[in-house]
Amino acid sequence: MNDIPVNIREEFKNRFHREAEHIFFCPGRVNLIGEHIDYNGGNVMPCAISLGIYLVIAKNTDKRFRFQCLNFPETAELHLQSSYSKADKNWFNYPLGIINEFFKNGYTLSGLDMLFYGNLPISAGLSSSASIEVVTAFALNALFHLDVSKVDIALMSKKVENEFIGVNCGIMDQFAVSMGQKNKAILLNCDTMDYRYFPFETDGYVLAIINSNKQRTLADSKYNERFTECGAALKLLKKELDVQNLCDIDFHSFESHRYLINNPVLEKRALHVISENFRVGEATDALKAGDLTSFGKLMYASHQSLKDWYEVSGKELDAIVDFCKTFDGCIGARMTGAGFGGCAIALVKKESFDDFVTQLTACYKIKIGYKPEVFASAVGDGVRNL
Ligand code: GLA
Repeated sequence: MNDIPVNIREEFKNRFHREAEHIFFCPGRVNLIGEHIDYNGGNVMPCAISLGIYLVIAKNTDKRFRFQCLNFPETAELHLQSSYSKADKNWFNYPLGIINEFFKNGYTLSGLDMLFYGNLPISAGLSSSASIEVVTAFALNALFHLDVSKVDIALMSKKVENEFIGVNCGIMDQFAVSMGQKNKAILLNCDTMDYRYFPFETDGYVLAIINSNKQRTLADSKYNERFTECGAALKLLKKELDVQNLCDIDFHSFESHRYLINNPVLEKRALHVISENFRVGEATDALKAGDLTSFGKLMYASHQSLKDWYEVSGKELDAIVDFCKTFDGCIGARMTGAGFGGCAIALVKKESFDDFVTQLTACYKIKIGYKPEVFASAVGDGVRNL
């Protein structure tokens, strides 16, 4: 069981004047490699982390959905009705979208009092939105005995993100936070939804998460722009190639058909996608062989491609990765998640970790003007009842 960071059961009682029935927890995730290819039918390699979002919950009898959160001042209280729509940019759109999705699927729910608390940096690219969606869906499933599988919980949550929230994300985040396993990386084929776990053993190394603390403004619209660009590149390539996804294309056919694109921006996007999918294959082989050094090199290559070809990095994430390349005890680093700010990950020798934190913090502060946040991450289990 997790050490619950604040007394949220007590807080629930103070706010709703009754006892909580359950506490659920859903972690965030990092993606080890395979970035921006889930919505292109590629292979990705995420794992769940130990930080995440807690949901304290109880059914009520007065036909209301009440949403409160320790991290945000806005609260909401809505009458039970059969459908809802998004309310501005409020945090409670995520659980509200999930409730709406359950209704759309024909499930019967009663009123609920809900208190959320996240110890995961919010909007930092560690999947706080997938985490709040999945924890809500998991709670509804448990409370109303709905028998929805964890994979379907992930799929429903992705639908909410796409249709209710309006971000055209792939399935990676929702899948990772739902299905994560302690000390395991997930290799997920986002086209077929086949998946495998394998040990993520970093003997002698720490998986560091570095939050750039850069506000991810415009991240959603930029994300949707990349999604559209990939669709446009695919459409042009499909004139001669019989494929469903950009990731169905190998380098060889890309090289012989890239003239079909005839647009330098779309060509770069496709190059990233196709090369990144190939790197995931190489990274899988490296991990299986216990070859962390090769894995680390692939992380650097992935970052370079996201920077030059996909153009989703930025000076903050680049400053982190550039520092990592100069630090002796670091064997690989890259941005993780959607980019445009958010977090990077790095593999750092255990005995050098403290120096890494000190030197990176100082170097970043000089270059960027404020400090990053650096922590060592454990790889944990997916959503659960505490
Ligand atoms: C965000 C999305 C994911 C994925 C990553 C980039 O986290 O939610 O679906 O596309 O960006 O790999």
